Amino acid sequence: MKNKKRPLIIGITGGTGSGKSTVCKAIIENIPEENIATLEQDAYYKDQTHLTFEDRLKTNYDHPLSFDNKLLIKHIEDLCEGKAIEKPIYDYELHTRKDNEIVNIAPKDIIIVEGIMILEDEDLRDKLDIKIYVDTEDDIRILRRIQRDIKERGRTVDSVIEQYLATVKPAHDQFIEPYKKYADIIMPEGGQNEVAIDIVISKIRTQLD
Ligand code: CTP
Repeated sequence: MKNKKRPLIIGITGGTGSGKSTVCKAIIENIPEENIATLEQDAYYKDQTHLTFEDRLKTNYDHPLSFDNKLLIKHIEDLCEGKAIEKPIYDYELHTRKDNEIVNIAPKDIIIVEGIMILEDEDLRDKLDIKIYVDTEDDIRILRRIQRDIKERGRTVDSVIEQYLATVKPAHDQFIEPYKKYADIIMPEGGQNEVAIDIVISKIRTQLD
């Protein structure tokens, strides 16, 4: 890896349910697997294995302090230096990292960093070469969140609504939306925006040439 070009780091952010993961998927599907890796900020929620399940329920998962951004930044730096990393795996039902389970990520030419609060942290923001904000209307986002959290994250309608009003919405207004100003690209309609996704894929292909 010695004489290799530094990887291109692409940040993809936006509120909960905005379609960040769909945009990531659309990009990844068009780029050879050996060239691209994704670091989800969710995988870097602070380790809470030392807390009881009841105590983990009290954590505010929509506050910048709930993320271990130091580890995320260290992993980005390691990958830039050609070192492999061990990405944590997050369990949304148990509200913590999976014990003794990781994903080995080798250095790649393109690194996607995806998450709700990647622009709020200046040190993290500075690591990103291209910053994309997936901009989706609030009503669409909450509807998607209700569906997803019930189907995939073991939640009830009542718990999703309660969490949305108590922490998710206030955090969006305080730590996510205001940081849109740092984005290079604002992507309305997220995963449906084929034109914007094609532009990002073209940029990646240029980097790979
Ligand atoms: N979260 C949660 N419980 C946890 C950890 C996180 O409910 N134990 C929630 C937080 O409330 C936060 C959300 O997970 O709002 C972040 O994930 P989100 O952005 O919704 O998911 P992605 O799939 O990354 O994004 P998108 O829906 O845009 O594809």
